[in-house]
Amino acid sequence: MQVISVVLAAGASTRMKSSRSKLLHSLMGETIAFRAYRLARSISDADPIFVLGHQRDEIVEDLNSKGAQFQECLQENPLGTADAVRKALPHLEKYSDEALVFIMPGDAILLQEASLQIFKDQHVRAQAQLSLMSFELPNPGSYGRVVRDQQSRVRKIVEFKNASEEEKRICELNSGFYLVRLDRLISALEKISKNEQTLEYYFTDIVELIASESGLVQSLLLQDPAECLGINTQLDLSVARMVMRNRINTRWQLLGVEMEDPQTTFVDESVELSPDVFLGAGVHLKGKTRVQGPSKIEAYSVIQDSEIGPRCEVGPFARLRPGTRLESDVKVGNFVEAKKSRFGRGSKAGHLSYLGDTEVGDGANIGAGTITCNYDGVSKYETKIGKNVFVGSNTSLVAPVVLGDSSIVGAGSVITKDVQAESLAISRAEQSESAGGATRFRAKKKKGH
Ligand code: UD1
Ligand code: CA
Repeated sequence: MQVISVVLAAGASTRMKSSRSKLLHSLMGETIAFRAYRLARSISDADPIFVLGHQRDEIVEDLNSKGAQFQECLQENPLGTADAVRKALPHLEKYSDEALVFIMPGDAILLQEASLQIFKDQHVRAQAQLSLMSFELPNPGSYGRVVRDQQSRVRKIVEFKNASEEEKRICELNSGFYLVRLDRLISALEKISKNEQTLEYYFTDIVELIASESGLVQSLLLQDPAECLGINTQLDLSVARMVMRNRINTRWQLLGVEMEDPQTTFVDESVELSPDVFLGAGVHLKGKTRVQGPSKIEAYSVIQDSEIGPRCEVGPFARLRPGTRLESDVKVGNFVEAKKSRFGRGSKAGHLSYLGDTEVGDGANIGAGTITCNYDGVSKYETKIGKNVFVGSNTSLVAPVVLGDSSIVGAGSVITKDVQAESLAISRAEQSESAGGATRFRAKKKKGH
């Protein structure tokens, strides 16, 4: 059976109280829009249909930038979820009557693909005309309530704003995920009218319409309410982030990654790890970062779009920015920042350095406080440090500059010219000393000069 997904994402996100649509907020390295796309894609036989309105251009750009392939329709005024689904009809008409339409809110992105598959299988097995997914919460908040009759059949959904006091006490809630036969969807949409209280067209009205015509309405009660969280506020966003972070951390721990404190460890969805990687408390791994084991990322290190080979030690408090690559047996210590730099096998930068656009040769040792001056205010330049080079502490390497293999740079140098292999380079003022000078200086001060 053919499945087509519709993602409702035209709402104004008022409850987010942000200048950006909630779809453009990110969690664990992905926007809500892209996660919704991936979920919709996972069950769809065609490119998912997105109903967009508020900040349409930005959402399209975000999805395109990640290579998402989708169909798009516009809902200029957010007149409610039924109106949004109506806007998708021109795209749906090309499919056959019995095609299955999966409808989801763009702001509910914690549903697991496995649960979605169960939802579909159950719908197909029961030959239902409409299926909805429900969940239970002890304090149900503003979700729609699932109202059942005496035989426990689903009768309708009542929105919180329209619910009676008795209905507000119902703990079975509407997740906003539906599966419906296309022909039933089309005929039901014609009948949904404006809610008199809120002047919105509620898609939830489809439940009563189909149920009252004795069409089979099936429901799946999800055990884990977290899967149904709709992200309406900043608070919801932080809860969703926590759920996703826990899922990712659990997955990696089961694959052999050691986490000192998973509660404070943030690993983006797109990160790749391997067994025997150790992650200290407060570590953030972002973007397309890859860490091979055995390697240790010590506490409070932040690593973005970087590659770390085996037997490396990073941090605590290291920052690796995009394009950094540590080959193997590399040590990058505290308060070292690197950007677009490659560290050869066994090289070390132990303390307090900035290395940008730099190539560090195998076995090189970068002294504390070494800074590559890679930017002159206009352009960026490269620094090449050869194999087994020793750079003394507090050195400025003014790029472009090359330090030949096995050369040594004396501490405190400002290096502006290339250094030949095996050379010793020092560039600093010579030290002078005046015997007894300190005593004379203090005596002068006391006299008041
Ligand atoms: C909706 C459901 C509610 C359910 C909840 C689950 C309705 C009437 N209510 O409520 O029963 O418990 O989701 O999360 O459907 N949207 C549009 N166009 C519009 C209005 C909304 O595209 O005109 C989009 C929004 O961008 C959002 C999604 O539809 O992504 C859901 O809308 P939202 O306003 O968040 O609905 P809820 O009040 O959460
Ligand atoms: Ca919502």
